[in-house]
Amino acid sequence: MPTAALLGAEVQCGDLRVLDDAGVAALRAAWLDNLVIVVRDQTLSDPELMAFGRRLGELDSAPLASTGNEKARAHDEVIVVSNVMEDGKPIGVLRDAEVVWHSDNSYRDVPLSFSALYALEVPPTGGNTGFANMYRALELLPPDLRRRIDELTIKHDMTYNSVGDLREGFKPVTDVRQAPGPSHPIVRTHVETGHNALYLGRRPNAYIGDLPVDESEKILDALWAHATESQLTWHHRWRAGDLLIWDNRCVMHHREPFDAGARRVMHRIQGKGDQPVRRLDANSLPHPRSASASRDNA
Ligand code: OGA
Ligand code: MN
Repeated sequence: MPTAALLGAEVQCGDLRVLDDAGVAALRAAWLDNLVIVVRDQTLSDPELMAFGRRLGELDSAPLASTGNEKARAHDEVIVVSNVMEDGKPIGVLRDAEVVWHSDNSYRDVPLSFSALYALEVPPTGGNTGFANMYRALELLPPDLRRRIDELTIKHDMTYNSVGDLREGFKPVTDVRQAPGPSHPIVRTHVETGHNALYLGRRPNAYIGDLPVDESEKILDALWAHATESQLTWHHRWRAGDLLIWDNRCVMHHREPFDAGARRVMHRIQGKGDQPVRRLDANSLPHPRSASASRDNA
């Protein structure tokens, strides 16, 4: 069931532990078509979560997720996203803070394809996760800005995570031109769907290569204001047992903060992606989900 927004769908496929191959293929197709999908009422141990994830694609261990303070991971491929403390140490990353709009692991040469977040405990309010459609963001970009950024790249800073925590082994950034991280094209062709999308990563310490810093900041501010407009977004309200799977190549996500006294425990797995590229033979039609939404709104 697609949502009323420009992305997102609930997939009803029963228990993921016993889903057959045709079911996995249908779920994967729904994910590419809707950019983010939710499957509800699941009961998954970490090994079951990993086993299901491997049916979507090769898993990645996202090596830079840690800030160095958390408990060691029980499985390399499973990242705990939580505010819960045990023995004086956080059991996971991202605390209870607002998580700024971002695409996972854009600061690596080869970012992730999917991320899948499985909810074990959710707070009574707050902590919703929002998603924004970057195919549509590109399609709706004002023509002047679209032309201006067409051939440009963004350097994606590795230093901080999406709640602003310094990653293990990095020094604070004082000049965006010096921030460590790979450069990726701003217009990215999705290798599975063939459609172009806007690829922005994270706003803090981003830099558009070789431009004067003022000019880079001005263009980035305009891109970000546009790409996070509410018409492009859909927000998921969590229930325990939800598995949410999103496509980092064509969506950004954001989390609302939540009450520090409430517990939120999520287990995340993630799929190995591909190096972002711009292809000249990209599909010039709108992505189908964007096209159907614009038809419905006409
Ligand atoms: C993540 C993330 C948001 C959330 O796990 O990559 O951004 O809702 N999480 O916890
Ligand atoms: Mn994230």
